[in-house]
Amino acid sequence: MTEQTSGQLKMEKIVALCKRRGLIFQSSEIYGGINGFWDYGPAGVAMRRAVEQLWWRYMVEQRDNVEGLDSTIICHPMVWKASGHLDQFSDLMVDCLDCKKRFREDQLETPGVCPGCGSKKMTEPREFNLMMKTFVGPVFDEEHVAWLRAETCQPIFVDFDQIRISSRQKLPFGIAQVGKAFRNEINPRFFTFRSREFTQMEMEFFCRDDESMKWYDYWHQERWAFYTKILGIPESRLKIHHHEKLAHYAKAALDIEFEFPFGWGEIEGVHHRGTWDMSRHSQFCGHELKYFDQERNEHYYPTVVETSCGLDRMCLALLCNAYDEDTAPTRKEGIEDDVRVVMHLPALVAPVQVAVLPLSKKLEDKAEPLFKDLRRCLRADYDVSGNIGKRYRRQDELGTPYCVTVDFETANDQAVTVRDRDAMTQERVALDKLAKFLLDKIQPVA
Ligand code: GAP
Repeated sequence: MTEQTSGQLKMEKIVALCKRRGLIFQSSEIYGGINGFWDYGPAGVAMRRAVEQLWWRYMVEQRDNVEGLDSTIICHPMVWKASGHLDQFSDLMVDCLDCKKRFREDQLETPGVCPGCGSKKMTEPREFNLMMKTFVGPVFDEEHVAWLRAETCQPIFVDFDQIRISSRQKLPFGIAQVGKAFRNEINPRFFTFRSREFTQMEMEFFCRDDESMKWYDYWHQERWAFYTKILGIPESRLKIHHHEKLAHYAKAALDIEFEFPFGWGEIEGVHHRGTWDMSRHSQFCGHELKYFDQERNEHYYPTVVETSCGLDRMCLALLCNAYDEDTAPTRKEGIEDDVRVVMHLPALVAPVQVAVLPLSKKLEDKAEPLFKDLRRCLRADYDVSGNIGKRYRRQDELGTPYCVTVDFETANDQAVTVRDRDAMTQERVALDKLAKFLLDKIQPVA
């Protein structure tokens, strides 16, 4: 099998698992779906929120010099004029005159040939703006046009003074926001990797220009540590791509890339944005966003260093990294080895962190209160149906790191068996020590 087909096959298995186990599936599927939009089911939403919370804790709550923001998705339309999105946020597209499909010009493997039907009747490349348009108020005319935000950082620049004054922060400091962004991508593809509606987690750090490269290096290191130490992604599956072509106002930019089954893809950008955003908004709204530096007795535009990642891409990277199949010999004669699908998700982001499995319905009196107790501090599940092997398999597929079995000995020895998903070990743990035992294993390294 070539590398490409095995990658494709792996991706198909991940997409199928996500649908089967209620992680991620097509939006409006009963209507045939809508291209580039994805819904997160019960397990998906649990995981996605856990990842978002980890980011928020690491980037905002554990720092003195980063504040949070939750702004609206629709802002004053001039925001997008000032940011340059209305004039420049576009891709070159080409249309096939035979099958009528539309493609991004830079993604054609053979220029001038339709990747859909092979036709050579393609239009010349044309600019296509990626902003999503809507109308505010009851009149649908050009005067009432508004735009769904294409990135979450613009409201951060617009609200800079409000936040700085109310939080009494002095430079250098950052503002972070998590929220939806919308882009009318010409070719949504690779599952959630390129969607039309997605969630960004961005942090804009405002500093003096002469210190900006020091901060750029600092945030580069911090973001790398987040992926490797907090999310546990091996360094071998991550790489840094330093940009050579830079915007005229920027001093540096890099992407953190992950090795997806379909190839290397960007999950995060660390960008030096110069004073572009602050000076442009000042110019377009008439409100001066210069900062008064008391120590230097000087007014200047803060220089911005940005860390920008997509929550959906981060979750996809975690799912791809976690996916694994191993074989276990089956006891049934004439049947080949069983394939066990196991998601090695870090316990911190697993949709279910502990599953309580009574060996028999007769043990529910003991097992149910235990489950209710554990779910006060952990994401817990309770499953009493089917044989124990099948229940373990279901939990393995969902990435549950610990399964607790309540058996007929439990009433006597006041203990349960804890099965570790990865080590496949089984350990007897006293009931009154169980919550602490699990929490100690699940807590992140400091
Ligand atoms: N404020 C800078 C900015 O938005 P970007 O490189 O366009 O930069 C940042 O986007 C991150 O947002 C990307 O690294 C990616 O994780 C995510 N992202 C961008 N477009 C996306 C899309 N169509 N679908 C899913 N995630 C996307």
